[in-house]
Amino acid sequence: MENAIEVSGLRKSYGDYEAVRGIDFTVRRGEVFGLLGPNGAGKTTTVEILEGYRARGEGDVAVLGFDPEQRPRAMRERVGIVLQSTGIYRHVTVREVLEHFGSLYPAPRAVDEVIGLVGLTGKEDQRARRLSGGQLRRLDLALALVGDPELIFLDEPTTGFDPAARHAAWDTIRSLKALGKTVLLTTHYLDEAQELADRVAIIKDGRIIVEGSPTELGAASGPYRIAYRADNGDGTFVVHETDDPTALLHELTERALASGTRLEGLSVTRPTLEDVYLELTADA
Ligand SMILES: Nc1ncnc2c1ncn2[C@@H]1O[C@H](COP(=O)(O)OP(=O)(O)O)[C@@H](O)[C@H]1O
Ligand SMILES: [Mg+2]
Repeated sequence: MENAIEVSGLRKSYGDYEAVRGIDFTVRRGEVFGLLGPNGAGKTTTVEILEGYRARGEGDVAVLGFDPEQRPRAMRERVGIVLQSTGIYRHVTVREVLEHFGSLYPAPRAVDEVIGLVGLTGKEDQRARRLSGGQLRRLDLALALVGDPELIFLDEPTTGFDPAARHAAWDTIRSLKALGKTVLLTTHYLDEAQELADRVAIIKDGRIIVEGSPTELGAASGPYRIAYRADNGDGTFVVHETDDPTALLHELTERALASGTRLEGLSVTRPTLEDVYLELTADA
């Protein structure tokens, strides 16, 4: 089987409100796939349907070839989950909770190895309620990994982290990919999607509005921009947009050389994922 996850025509309503409005995507084995979108877009609803925690409305979903709604044991043993909100295991230590969760799986990873992977070395004997918010989130990640799953769901894994903890979590997620795991990640942080995801779907109001690799999404969305400082001394930039930067640069630099001026601050750029995201998710 090529794809870890297949979703087609998925819909889900809460009462009268349709939170997911017909989405399709596939996650290939071994890739990190990012569902990126603002709060309320429908990310958690989608992920919880795939995890088997919520019934879908309409459409088809397959997770490792299984229907998650049946919560088959064979699927649960191969999937690791970090929920958006955490924490029932407050009174036990880091090591105890990991040993317990590990014992539920047929082939768990060594607890010490998992503790090292998420950066909780030294906290083994600390009770969960004494951990900081960022450390608790690392424990969540450790819980998702201890069963050595092949597919991992991470719902906003770094929300509330300070920058150092975010970078550490990113390293952990990269190491999951290096271990050959498949990761479905939700985030409302662009840089996180850009850093981690092989492919991204931007979701808004229950619909996927665009899908592709972070670079493709940036580059496919618009022309090159050539910018340089205006020579009137007020610090403003002249910006040209073009699909043929080679020709335009040649023309601009030839003119500048002939007139003995310099194109200060010269740059050639394309729209980034951030430009695309802000444009697509902006409220009308
Ligand atoms: N259990 C629920 N009951 C009613 N409405 C819900 C429920 N869960 C989510 N919603 C609504 O569905 C929409 C999508 O929510 P959610 O999937 O949590 O989005 P996201 O994770 O992208 O922030 C939001 O408008 C949210 O208020
Ligand atoms: Mg959410």
